[in-house]
Amino acid sequence: MVLIAALSGQSAVLLCGVLGLYYVLRVIANYAKLKKFRGPAWTGVSSWPHSMAMLRLNCHEWYAEVSRKYGSNHPFAPGPIARVAPTVLITSSPEVWMHVNNKPGYKRSDWYYNATRIEHRRDNVFSQTDNEKHERRRKQMAPGYSGRENTNLEGSVDERLQDFLDLIRSKYVSSSDQVVPVDMAKKVQFFTLDVISTVGLGKPFGMLQSDYDVDDYLQSSEEGLAIGNTALALGFSWLTQAPFIGRLVAPSPKNNNGFGKMMAACFRLVDERAASATDKRSDMLASFIRHGLAGDELRSEALEQIIAGSDTTAGAIRGALLHIMTNPRVYHKLQREVDDAVRDGRAPATGAGLITAGQAKQLPYLQAVTAEALRVWPPVVNIFPRDIPAGGDTVVVNGESVFLPGGACIGYSAYAMHHSEEIHGKDAAAFRPERWLEADPARLAVMHRTNDLIFGHGKFQCLGKPVAQLEIGKMVFELMRNFDLALVNPTRPWNAQNYLGLFAISDMWVQVTERTGN
Ligand code: HEM
Ligand SMILES: *[C@@H]1O[C@H](CO)[C@@H](O)[C@H](O)[C@H]1NC(C)=O
Repeated sequence: MVLIAALSGQSAVLLCGVLGLYYVLRVIANYAKLKKFRGPAWTGVSSWPHSMAMLRLNCHEWYAEVSRKYGSNHPFAPGPIARVAPTVLITSSPEVWMHVNNKPGYKRSDWYYNATRIEHRRDNVFSQTDNEKHERRRKQMAPGYSGRENTNLEGSVDERLQDFLDLIRSKYVSSSDQVVPVDMAKKVQFFTLDVISTVGLGKPFGMLQSDYDVDDYLQSSEEGLAIGNTALALGFSWLTQAPFIGRLVAPSPKNNNGFGKMMAACFRLVDERAASATDKRSDMLASFIRHGLAGDELRSEALEQIIAGSDTTAGAIRGALLHIMTNPRVYHKLQREVDDAVRDGRAPATGAGLITAGQAKQLPYLQAVTAEALRVWPPVVNIFPRDIPAGGDTVVVNGESVFLPGGACIGYSAYAMHHSEEIHGKDAAAFRPERWLEADPARLAVMHRTNDLIFGHGKFQCLGKPVAQLEIGKMVFELMRNFDLALVNPTRPWNAQNYLGLFAISDMWVQVTERTGN
């Protein structure tokens, strides 16, 4: 503005003309680059339709619809790849997505991953877009996530699961005389937060024991995700990273609100541990420290874990419970498998401990139910875009070569991929665990390979996958063994909103009754 005012009238018009022309030429160039890909109206020239889908808080459904309409079974469509914005493609093909994650020339896109940073100008392993830096950081962290250097992982999950069962039993058991509704969405998140603080920081936040959202963490993390989502949609994510002002708007442990308090609590625990060299624990933090993480880096990764490990797994458990509760056939079959296992000694007797991970793996229907629940309700549906190498790249889809031009990026269309009829059968939209037990070996391999992508792929695969799988399997088994569950509001089972690909789920009111005579 100052610049324009300082120019004479004529040169201002000229400058605006040049800038306008540059803008129009850029739009045309971008449009031309992805011309052969199809997408909804205006997505070739404007990011607005994509932004609107993010603001409607159901972007995953929009991606699925785009993939279905424009990215498959169409004579002019270049395979299962579609356009959602002028330089943004999405794919529902597992082959393409694996290729994009494996091939060295691709990198995570700044426009998206910068918006997933938590702190002012500080990356963590999840938000890091530089491949070399990412690889270095990941190497420092992977051993801490593995059972080898984190020997009490399963024991920690068991302690928190026992806290969860005790909480339900002591306060939220309904009977035929009286229903005591419990918001399962909230209690499940207490569980995942207590697990991740125990395994990641060495000490639970204590939400299950106090039955209380300590420091308003749940509320403020949801607000944080909502702001992040709006900021990305409207293009002001850069604000938290801007000089001066960024410091004011990015969350900070100095703030006295929920998220700031949570950061402060997290950093305090990390600092205590880092300062006590005599601490002989063998857990995640100890492993990170041993592999050279210290100071701000250590704090950032510990914090990131809390975000990456809580909403995600809570979404998976809630999805599994909702689908089990609403499918009586599956419910009874699963409960029968659970009861039989307890009776035959394939699981500890009731009162004699919780199911072990090893035992859970031997229960085929439980495995089928959890795989199917993740498939129909993948809890992490971010676009996760990758920049295509500058010179472009050719991918082979269904035997056809497709050229992906440089200067654009390609992301993940989770719902379309995991609900694909081609991969999972004609009833792919429905929850039917039996598909995992009856498919022939070749098809089953494809189904498993595809489902694995729910946790990402290759050098970007979720580090917390084993933790999440422990939590999901044990929780489902122990709830089925101990209680019966039913929805309180079947016409509105929960309230789910997609923020940046994670789900904020609330108001999942359930009535829990003690089981008798199993
Ligand atoms: C069902 C639950 C979960 C799902 C579906 C899930 C999914 C994912 C996905 C898809 C990625 C890849 C992101 C990308 O490609 O850029 C990822 C990364 C990651 N996840 Fe998970 N996650 C879950 C639970 C967890 C848990 C419990 C933890 C921590 C204990 C965790 C920690 C991480 C970390 C640290 C990364 C970054 C890995 C890297 O960039 O190299 N996740 N997760
Ligand atoms: C993302 O962050 C990096 C590192 O701070 C910066 O160089 C880059 O310009 C940012 N890109 C976008 C699109 O925000």
